[in-house]
Amino acid sequence: MTDLAIIGCRQLVTLASPNGPRSGPAMRSLAIIADGALHIREGHIVAAGPRSEIERALPADTEIVDAGGRIVLPGFIDAHTHPVFGGNRAGEFERRLEGATYAEIAASGGGIRSTVRSTREASGDELLAAGRRYADWFLSGGTTTIEAKSGYGLSLDAEVKILKTIRQLNAGARLRYVPTFLGAHEVPDEYRVRIRDYVDLVIHEMLPRVAEENLAEYCDVFCEPSVFSVEQARSILRAAQALGLGLRVHADQFSADYGSLLAAELHAATADHLESSTPAALAALHAAGVQPVLLPASVYHLGGTRYPAARVMIDLGLPVVLATDFNPGSSPTASMPMVLSLAATQMKLTPAEAIAAATINAAHSLGRGEEIGSLEPGKLADFALHDCDDYRELSYFFGRDTAHSVYLAGRCVYRRASPATAL
Ligand code: NIG
Ligand code: FE
Repeated sequence: MTDLAIIGCRQLVTLASPNGPRSGPAMRSLAIIADGALHIREGHIVAAGPRSEIERALPADTEIVDAGGRIVLPGFIDAHTHPVFGGNRAGEFERRLEGATYAEIAASGGGIRSTVRSTREASGDELLAAGRRYADWFLSGGTTTIEAKSGYGLSLDAEVKILKTIRQLNAGARLRYVPTFLGAHEVPDEYRVRIRDYVDLVIHEMLPRVAEENLAEYCDVFCEPSVFSVEQARSILRAAQALGLGLRVHADQFSADYGSLLAAELHAATADHLESSTPAALAALHAAGVQPVLLPASVYHLGGTRYPAARVMIDLGLPVVLATDFNPGSSPTASMPMVLSLAATQMKLTPAEAIAAATINAAHSLGRGEEIGSLEPGKLADFALHDCDDYRELSYFFGRDTAHSVYLAGRCVYRRASPATAL
């Protein structure tokens, strides 16, 4: 395999050093190289630097790609998604617009449970085809890695079917998938009156199978009084921890400090959502080294106004992460550029802070801070060329996906179709 060089990057946004996730003022320094270039060998970055310096050191037969003055960023790392499901909920969306609430729809058997029905009915091939379609949506925004949760099966077989679909999608090598087992996403219809039995099924049958077949790296629970209580979530997460899985928690989405304190107690990798967290809970996350994963697109799509207190988190020194929460109910978007826009307008993150949250901080939240999330020698060559002149345009223009082309381990996996030329 010959070497590859990307030259002509108006801004090469490297996010090089310091080590570890970024917090506080460090979230604003992106280590940008003007007129930069990348040198890549066997899927990894050899060097990132000023064009003249990089060009001098290239072997004679290097393949050269001219970025044409575009900006080049590490691929976005979307650390919270639910990308494998049957059907969608456009009909329910319409009901919500006519006045029904998300909670009312869920209580009447809709919501997550309606997607569970269509996911159980779908074959593995159908889920794979839908997953491939959504993979393109992630790529078109410049995303190269996603954390992918199960959770629309809620039976041993259906959860395994979803996790195996995620494994197949990952094997396609267009997008990286980090699998998370979310068997405790909702209580399935057949267990409504015996929730404890469902918790036992998750602990004694699903988790051991997931661990035995190495189907997931993380375990997540939707912690909410109307779904899984703190006690139930604790027993599931402890069982997962004992099997060697990392922990993530859907916490404080609708109820104050419901889940976040448990995430702190268990030293989870992340606490996600946090729309209803108090400053005391945020301080507990900070003390326990838990990273907050903020999902402003779900607040937007549910028509809410209570966004997570991102500025308070950054001032506390929490290494904030941004993600789409792509799912058919609360957040039907795979667009990280859209999330950057919402982070700016609704949570007052600067463009640089948002990029740090969507790349290096997200990589650390997935235990991959040494491999991805920045453009530095030795790391995987996962990056995107964006049609912008300046990185701030990513947060500023909104409603468009900006990726021109996307590379995974040095291989081009996405290129936007060129507009039809006038006849
Ligand atoms: O993260 N909160 C729970 N899970 C998803 C919603 C899933 C759905 O509505 O299908 C979320 O917002
Ligand atoms: Fe979610």
